[in-house]
Amino acid sequence: MSVFQKLIENASNIVVLTGAGMSTESGIPDFRSDAGVWQDEALVHAMSDSYLRRFPQAFWPKFKQVFMRPEYLRAEPNAGHRALAALERMGKQVAVFTQNVDGLHQLAGSTTVFELHGSVRKAECPACMQSYGLDDILAQEVPTCRWENAKGGECRAVLHPDTVLFGQQVRHLERAILAAARCDLFLVLGTSLMVDPVAELPNYARAAGVPIAVVNLEETYIDGHAEVVIRGKIGEVLPQVFPVF
Ligand code: APR
Repeated sequence: MSVFQKLIENASNIVVLTGAGMSTESGIPDFRSDAGVWQDEALVHAMSDSYLRRFPQAFWPKFKQVFMRPEYLRAEPNAGHRALAALERMGKQVAVFTQNVDGLHQLAGSTTVFELHGSVRKAECPACMQSYGLDDILAQEVPTCRWENAKGGECRAVLHPDTVLFGQQVRHLERAILAAARCDLFLVLGTSLMVDPVAELPNYARAAGVPIAVVNLEETYIDGHAEVVIRGKIGEVLPQVFPVF
C-alpha cells in the first residue's frame, strides 16, 4: 500500500483544496500553465471588480470568453471529481473547498462543496439584488436586470457575476481556515497556490500538524512540507489511490 493510500485509509475527516488543474481533464484550461488563460494580461486586468464597475458593457463579453465558453458550460466531471465523490461513499467526511467556478464537484456527487470564488452559473443585480441563473446570463450578451418595480419601470442595471473577481473578497475563508486546522488529512489538488489568501490554507493545516498530500503537475510552495507529493494528472492518480464506483 502506498503512503498516499495509507493516509486516506487512516483519515476520516478530509479537507480538499482544489484549483483549475482539477478541471483541465474536463476540457477547461487552467490559468497559469503555458496554455493558461492569464497569459493574456489585458484579460487579467479586465477580470477585476474595478473594470466591471467602470466598463460593464465591455466586461461581460470578456468574462464570457474566459469563463463561459459553450464547451466549458458543457464540460463533465472527470475521473478526479468522481474519485472525490467516491471517497464520501467510502464513509469519509469530505469537505471540498474549490477555487473553481464550474460546478463540476457538485455534478460529480460531492455533497459538501464550498465555492471560494463563487460560481459562473449565477449573477446578481447590484442595484436591486435580484438573482439570476445561467439561462438569464446567456440570454443577452451583456446581461441586465429585468426586475420591474411596482410602477412598471424596469431596473436594467448590468448584472454582476457571482464569480469572485480580482479585488473582491474570497468566500467561506474563515470556515476554510478552521476546516484546514481541524481535519485529519489535507489534500491539495491542481492548484499552483499562487493567489492569496487561499494559497495560505495548506499552511493552517501544516501549523496544526495535519498531514498534507499534493497532486499537481508542477511544483508548489507547500511540497516540501507534504507527506506525499505526486506529479501526475489528478484524473489518473486519484482512481489508483481509491476506487471509483
Ligand atoms: N492534474 C494535476 N495538476 C494539474 C492538472 C492535472 N490534470 N492540470 C493542471 N494542473 C496544475 C498546473 O500544473 C498548475 O500548477 O494545476 C495548477 C493550476 O494552477 P493555476 O492555473 O494557477 O490555477 P489555480 O491555482 O486554480 O488559480 C487560483 O487564481 O486567477 C485566479 O481565480 C483564479 O481561481 C483561480 C486562482
